[in-house]
Amino acid sequence: MADQLNVLVICGSLRKGSYNAALTRALPALAPPEMKLITAPPLGDFPLYNADVQEASGFPAAAEKLAAAIRAADAVLFVTPEYNWSMPGVLKNAIDWVSRMKDQPFKDKPVAIQSCSQGPLGGARMQYHWRMSMTFLAAFIFGTPEIFVGQAQTKFDKDTLELSDQPTKDIVKTQLAVFAKFIKRMKAATAI
Ligand SMILES: Cc1cc2nc3c(=O)[nH]c(=O)nc-3n(C[C@H](O)[C@H](O)[C@H](O)COP(=O)(O)O)c2cc1C
Repeated sequence: MADQLNVLVICGSLRKGSYNAALTRALPALAPPEMKLITAPPLGDFPLYNADVQEASGFPAAAEKLAAAIRAADAVLFVTPEYNWSMPGVLKNAIDWVSRMKDQPFKDKPVAIQSCSQGPLGGARMQYHWRMSMTFLAAFIFGTPEIFVGQAQTKFDKDTLELSDQPTKDIVKTQLAVFAKFIKRMKAATAI
């Protein structure tokens, strides 16, 4: 499809029973028809960032793979928990690796975020830290509607982990529709 929007989905949780991973699985049914969601390479394969390692042996395969996937996508959607009011180390570590590349892949890339947490605020505090990092990396940061899935344990089926909360489905659907418009506007702006 000529006007297809390829959106890379990066999940910040490695946990098998992750609510954030469960949310990523709900996205295709909620996305507008032109949006194709692509699962990012796993973040658990990254070594811890070390500038000495980078200097001695370059970027690890996991970082090259993620950077290539970001570059190939029209946009990136992060779906991640909040750890200690900030981004999970696993996610920050992956961002740190690709951020050191010469053709830094987040530059001019439309990016959006969703978060699930078992607390009441749904990861809100983490999202502002993520916005700071994305600002530094010159991404085109999507604004509203924001997605904060608080008390996630009440919004997914206990056995199947399927998203069962209708208001959450509705707001996610709205966000993806507005994000699709944002991606098109950003693509048009950078094509000039
Ligand atoms: C290291 C750690 C730190 C956490 N810090 C927060 C926090 O700051 N705010 C919050 O709402 N939940 C916090 N939680 C609870 C998470 O919301 C909960 O574990 C959630 O299910 C994680 O997302 P996941 O289900 O996708 O793995 C923390 C959990 C862990 C393991």
